[in-house]
Amino acid sequence: MAAATGERYWADVDAAALPHLVTAPPGPKSRELHARASGIIRGLSGQVRLFPVVFEKGHGCVLEDVDGNRYIDFSSGIYVTTLGHCHPKVSEAVAKAANTLMNAHDFTTPIKVKLLEKLVEVLPGDLKGVQLYDSGTTAVEAGLRTCRAATGRQEFLSCFRDFHGKTGHAVSLANTNKLYGPTRSPGFYLLPRPDTYRPLFARDDGSLDTEKYLELYASFITNGTAGDVAAFVLEPIQGWGGSVMPPDDFFPKLRAFCDERGILLFADEVLTSMGRTGKYLCMEHWDVTPDVVTLGKGFGNGFPVTAMVVREQYADAVDRISASTSYGGNPMACAAALACIEAIEEENLLERAMHLEDLFRRKMAHWTSKYNIVGDTRVKGCLMGVELVKDKATKEPFDEAGKLVYQTAFRKGLAWIPAGHILRMSPPIVMSDALAEKAMDIIEESIAEVQAKLGYA
Ligand SMILES: Cc1ncc(COP(=O)(O)O)c(C=O)c1O
Repeated sequence: MAAATGERYWADVDAAALPHLVTAPPGPKSRELHARASGIIRGLSGQVRLFPVVFEKGHGCVLEDVDGNRYIDFSSGIYVTTLGHCHPKVSEAVAKAANTLMNAHDFTTPIKVKLLEKLVEVLPGDLKGVQLYDSGTTAVEAGLRTCRAATGRQEFLSCFRDFHGKTGHAVSLANTNKLYGPTRSPGFYLLPRPDTYRPLFARDDGSLDTEKYLELYASFITNGTAGDVAAFVLEPIQGWGGSVMPPDDFFPKLRAFCDERGILLFADEVLTSMGRTGKYLCMEHWDVTPDVVTLGKGFGNGFPVTAMVVREQYADAVDRISASTSYGGNPMACAAALACIEAIEEENLLERAMHLEDLFRRKMAHWTSKYNIVGDTRVKGCLMGVELVKDKATKEPFDEAGKLVYQTAFRKGLAWIPAGHILRMSPPIVMSDALAEKAMDIIEESIAEVQAKLGYA
């Protein structure tokens, strides 16, 4: 059914009826189907291995499994369905494009023109040079090639535990897995990023000292590189690493630091963009325009469409990297991304994400004082993290508690993402207040139960 412009299709969900469990999940049908799949598919994520449920339907913030259990979605797939599952405007736009024209390589199409013009209108500053891709990783790879073409330099700086994808250069930007270590490409260097809960450099009062990080970066560039650094590549907020948020002075100071050295600032916003944190770009929270930025996940709300965008002065460099791909910018992809931006505008969803941030902050406000295992809570828009620790003085990570809280809450009907000792939450930004409150209550109950079970109450 066609959605009326601006209609909030998700607002009338009956929170009192959710979650709705008809059998203990994963139920018999989930188990049977998962057993068949896992006899063939390999390399499943921890999210699935820890809770092998089989989803069949999704609408808005509600997921339904094959046994008929209905869950509140607090993961958005994997930070993807920012506007909820099957947003009518997005689904209809994709279906229409699929019945009109599916692929025309990188020829201009009318829907592409509309998307490009809309995208550069909503992005901040002079981010005006765009190329479209089909995964976050390919957009990141194109960003790296662009940085080299724009500067004539070869080396890259990035941060401990940031994540940028799983191809050769993308894994070279991140050392999150033992397998990647020895095969990282030469000229890629990792540096620590500021983490206010675990500051490496702190002032006398314990607060994080941003200047000291910049001093380390300066010294590293002098002593640890060939002086040929093209770009500093960072996630604005470390997503996969645990929703780690920088202090507010970090990005403005890093912008100046990069400018002084002719180093490009490359913000990988695959996870944080398009409303996830209450802005089109997370970097807007600090009034910083990156030179290169990558968009993904919520950009197509589930349809695989991503983008690499550069400031006007670097747009010519994109012409020199052989930028096009088979699927980038296909009509269905353009239709999905355009519909997402239009829905964000029509339904005031950036405001909605900021409203939910307040709600989430209020719900978590007492967790660190009330629960012995909660070391830190943080939120920006609809991106949250809760650090579970064995001891608040030593901040020793409590992985076992993280795993148990994930499974306990899932059993209660909350679909979400596990991550070692850090609980990561990324609900759709279209959640009603009542549903958001309910989900947070499930998490709190689960923390309390796990704390008691592990003898930390
Ligand atoms: C910040 C960031 N960059 C890049 C990627 C890779 O995106 P994709 O999985 O679409 O290739 C991800 C995926 O999680 C991400 O979070």
